[in-house]
Amino acid sequence: MKVSPSLLAADFADLKTAVARIATADMLHLDVMDGIFVPNISFGAGIIKALRPHTDLFFDVHLMIERPERYLEDFKRAGADGISIHYESTESPAAVLKTIREMGISPAITISPDTPAEVVFPLLPLVDMVLIMTVYPGFGGQKLIPACLQKARAIKDEILRQNLPVLVQADGGVGPANIAEVAAAGVDVAVAGSAVFGAADPAAVIAAMKATRK
Ligand code: DX5
Ligand code: ZN
Repeated sequence: MKVSPSLLAADFADLKTAVARIATADMLHLDVMDGIFVPNISFGAGIIKALRPHTDLFFDVHLMIERPERYLEDFKRAGADGISIHYESTESPAAVLKTIREMGISPAITISPDTPAEVVFPLLPLVDMVLIMTVYPGFGGQKLIPACLQKARAIKDEILRQNLPVLVQADGGVGPANIAEVAAAGVDVAVAGSAVFGAADPAAVIAAMKATRK
């Protein structure tokens, strides 16, 4: 299992230390919220840019914003390595994913809990990762919705059927307590906010999650 800790659960007054605490992770998950697509505001490209010199981790930027196509250049300049856009946030997800690829950034498509798995099937050739929300987006610290893991399984099966090198990521309510179930659903990358940053020893939590096999 790969692990992408979500900075949303870190101490925003000490982000440099937060990034240092999760140096053994595979990616750093950066939740950008605009208060419109989701009912909460987090941080934007400025914070991501400020963190860029402090870590070599892959910046996994999850855009929970309306019409993300307006801000792709900003996130590229900030140092994003991967950008996930929500299927529900734009009129033409395919066009936005193609633009992200052309910019030299790794594209990912995200679906919220009420969006069916099948909508991403035709988009699989355009992405490196599918992000399945396992909670309603907007807030950290929620409980994983088990039905969302069935969608992960369906998407993983379709990826295997199309024989594509696409990863499946689960985001929301994931931690050591349920990582085995998450892995069994075909998930390759676990996002974990509160489970990692809320722990006394984040490195130990990361190691335990990484050691989970399918
Ligand atoms: C929710 C965010 C998640 C969230 C995960 O909208 O996309 O990345 O921070 O936090 P936990 O792991 O606490 O559920
Ligand atoms: Zn996220």
